[in-house]
Amino acid sequence: MLDFLKAAASYLRPYWRQAFLIVLSQAPATAFITLQPLLLRALLDDAILPNDATLAALLIAAMVGLLLLHALGDLANHYLVARVVASVMSDLRLRIFTHLQRLSVSFYARSRAGDLLARFTTDLEGIERALADEVPQAIYCILTVLAGAALLVVIEWRLALVLLVLLPALPILPRRLAPRAAAASDERQHAAARVLASMHENIAAQLVVRAFGLQGLMRSRFAQDLAGMSRATGQAGLQSGLLTASMTASGYALLAFAMGSATVLALRGALTVGSVIAVFELLWFMISAVQQLSSVVEPFQRAASGLRRVQQLLDQKPEVAERPGAVALPPLSGAIRFASVDFAFPGGETVLKNVDLTLPARRTVAIVGQSGSGKSTLLALLLRFHDPTRGTVTFDGHDLAQASLASLALQVGAVFQESFLFDASIAENIRLGRPEAGDAEVEAAARGAGIHEFLSGLPLGYRAPAGEAGARLSGGQRQRIALARALLRRPAVLVLDEATSALDSETEAGIVATLKDLHGQQTIVSVTHRLATARDADLIVVMSEGRVAEQGTHESLLAAKGVYARLWSQQSGFVISASGHHAAIEPRRLAAIPLFSLLAPDLLARLAACFTTMEVPTGRTLFEEDERGDMLYVIVRGRVGVARRGPAGAELHVSVLEDGDFFGEIALLEEVRRTATVRALTPCLLLVLDRGEFRDLLAQAPELRKVFEGAAQARLTALCDESAFLPGPLPL
Ligand SMILES: Nc1ncnc2c1ncn2[C@@H]1O[C@H](COP(=O)(O)OP(=O)(O)OP(=O)(O)O)[C@@H](O)[C@H]1O
Ligand SMILES: [Mg+2]
Repeated sequence: MLDFLKAAASYLRPYWRQAFLIVLSQAPATAFITLQPLLLRALLDDAILPNDATLAALLIAAMVGLLLLHALGDLANHYLVARVVASVMSDLRLRIFTHLQRLSVSFYARSRAGDLLARFTTDLEGIERALADEVPQAIYCILTVLAGAALLVVIEWRLALVLLVLLPALPILPRRLAPRAAAASDERQHAAARVLASMHENIAAQLVVRAFGLQGLMRSRFAQDLAGMSRATGQAGLQSGLLTASMTASGYALLAFAMGSATVLALRGALTVGSVIAVFELLWFMISAVQQLSSVVEPFQRAASGLRRVQQLLDQKPEVAERPGAVALPPLSGAIRFASVDFAFPGGETVLKNVDLTLPARRTVAIVGQSGSGKSTLLALLLRFHDPTRGTVTFDGHDLAQASLASLALQVGAVFQESFLFDASIAENIRLGRPEAGDAEVEAAARGAGIHEFLSGLPLGYRAPAGEAGARLSGGQRQRIALARALLRRPAVLVLDEATSALDSETEAGIVATLKDLHGQQTIVSVTHRLATARDADLIVVMSEGRVAEQGTHESLLAAKGVYARLWSQQSGFVISASGHHAAIEPRRLAAIPLFSLLAPDLLARLAACFTTMEVPTGRTLFEEDERGDMLYVIVRGRVGVARRGPAGAELHVSVLEDGDFFGEIALLEEVRRTATVRALTPCLLLVLDRGEFRDLLAQAPELRKVFEGAAQARLTALCDESAFLPGPLPL
C-alpha cells in the first residue's frame, strides 16, 4: 500500500501545485468537523448556561459560516481532483502505450493480448478510482485525526498525551496482516486478467471455435477461469476484511480507552459538561475518520496490485533496442549479408544455425524450404524483429544491431502470411505504406497488387471502411490490400512471407507478374514453400532444419539433384485449370507415390484419370482420428495440419503437409481406421482417389491388381516396421 502511495506521489509530482490546492480545499471540511465540538462547548458553557443570547447568535453564525466554507471547499476539491486524476491517468496510459510500441516481437509472441488489455483496463481503473476517491478520502481522514488530536491537546492535554503515547501501537496488528492481504489481492487481479484474456482469445478465435465445434470446451475452460476468479475474490475479501477489522478494532480500542479516561476526569470534576461533550464529539469524529480510513484499505490494495502489474509491464526491457549512438542506415545499394548467424528464441532451441548468406541489392531472392525450416525466422532477423544470438546481419556492411530502427523501417515494406487491416477506409489502409502518397499513387499500387478492379466495384470504392468491409473481404483480397500497402512504400527492400500462398493460382500468377515488373528496381526477398513462384528468382535459398542447405538458380539447383530437386519433383506434375478450381495429376507424378511406383505407364494414365478435385476451406476437417478411411489425398495447393490425440486426450500437433504431399494411402489397401486427424490450414486444392473407384479399376485390369497387391504387401510390411509416426508420405 505504501508502494502505491509512493508511486501515486511520483505521478502527482508534475501537478504538485494542483495537488497542494487539493489538500488546501479539504481544510474547510476538516475545520468544520473539528471546530464544531469547540463551538458546541462554547455554546453550552459560555452562552446557554450563562444565558448570553448575543454570544449564542454569534456562535451559530460562525457555524453557518463554516458550513458555507465547507461546501465551497468540497466543490473546489471535486473539480481539482477530477482534473488532476484525468491528467495523471492520461500520462500513465500514454506511457504504457509508448512502452508497448517499443517492446519486441518476442514479447508479443509470449504475451496474451487479453492480459495486456486487463492491465490497461481493470488495473488502471483500480488505480484511477483509488486516486479519485480513496486518496482524497484518506487525506481528509488523516487531516481530521491530526486536527482532532491537536484540539484534544487544547481541551484536555493529559488525555491527549496518553493517546499520543498509545498511538504507535495502533498499526502493529494491521502490519502483520497486510502482506497476506496484498498477496490475495494480487492473485485476484491475475485471476481477473485471466478471465479477460480468455474472453479476448475466444472472440479472436471464433472461426476456429465454430469450425472445430469447440464451444463446449471453451465454455468449460471459461467457467474454470471464472471459478478461479471467484475463489481469489473470496480470499481477497477475507484477507482485506481481516486487515480492515484489525485497523478498526485497534482504533476503537484506543478511543474507548480515551472515552473511559474522559469520563473518569469528568466524574472527578476536572472537566466541565461542555468539555465532556466536546471531547466525546471530537472522539466520535475521530472514530468515524478511522473507520473511513479502514474502508479505503481494500480499494487501495486493489490499486496497489494493479500498479504492480502495470509496473511489471513498464519494467519489461525491449529485447531489440536501439543502441545509444545508433546510426541511420543509408539506402541499400550493395547487399544484405548474414554472417555466421545463429538464432534461438528466448529459452528455446537454436532455430537458425550458422547461416551465411548474401542477398544482392535489386535482385529477387526466394527463400524456400519445408514448414518449420526457419524461413520466417530468417526474415524476422532481416526486419530486426530479433537480434541474432551469434553473428551479424548487415546492410551494405552496416550491422543492423547498431543501426537506428526508424532508418531500417523506412527502407523495408513487408507483407506477411496474415495481413492486418486497420479500422479505417481501404484507401487509408493502403496509404499507411506512405502517408504522403496521393490518390493516383494509391490507385497505382492497388493496380499493381491486382485489387483495383475489385475496389472500384465496391459501392464506396476505395473509401469503403476496412473494418466493416474487412469482414466481407476474402483472405486473398485482404492479402492484396496488404501488398498494395507495401508496394506504395516503394521500399528498397520488399519482404514477402508466403504472401501469395493462400491465393488462387490465377491471382497468384498476377502478383508474381507484378513482382517481376519490379525486378531490378527493388530488392525482393520472398519466402514461399511453392517452388513454382520461386523458379524465376535470381537466387533461391533452400532452408532445411535451420540451415542453408543449398543456394543457386533454379537450373543449378535442379542440376545439383539435392533437396531443391527433390522438392521440385514433389511439387511438379500437376495441371491446374485456368479457373483454378480443377486439377489433374500427371501419370509420371503418380509413379512417385510408393504404392504406384511399379505400375506401367498405361496403367498410371488410367489411374490418373480416376482422381477427382476437391476444394477445402481453411479450418475444415478432412478426417478424424479413428474414422474409417476410404480415400487417398494428394495436396495440389495448400497446407494441412496433422494431429493425434495424446495420452491425456489432448490433441498433439504432429506435422504440416503442403503442396505435393499425399496422405491416407493406407485406406486404398484395406479398410482401416485413420491414425490421425487432418485439417486444412489454408484453402486447399486437393486430388482425391476413392477406394471404390480404385477397386473398380482393379477389377477391370487384373494385371494392375497383381502388381498393386505386390506393392501393397511390401508397403504394409514397411508400415508395420515403422514404429513411430513418420513425416512425409504418411501412413494415415
Ligand atoms: N515465437 C517462437 N518461439 C519459439 N520457437 C519458435 C517461435 N516461432 C517459431 N519457432 C520455431 O522456429 C522454427 C522455425 O520457424 P519458422 O516460423 O521460421 O519456420 P518457417 O520455415 O517459416 O515455417 P512455415 O513454412 O510453416 O511458415 C520452428 O521450429 C518453430 O517451431
Ligand atoms: Mg513461416
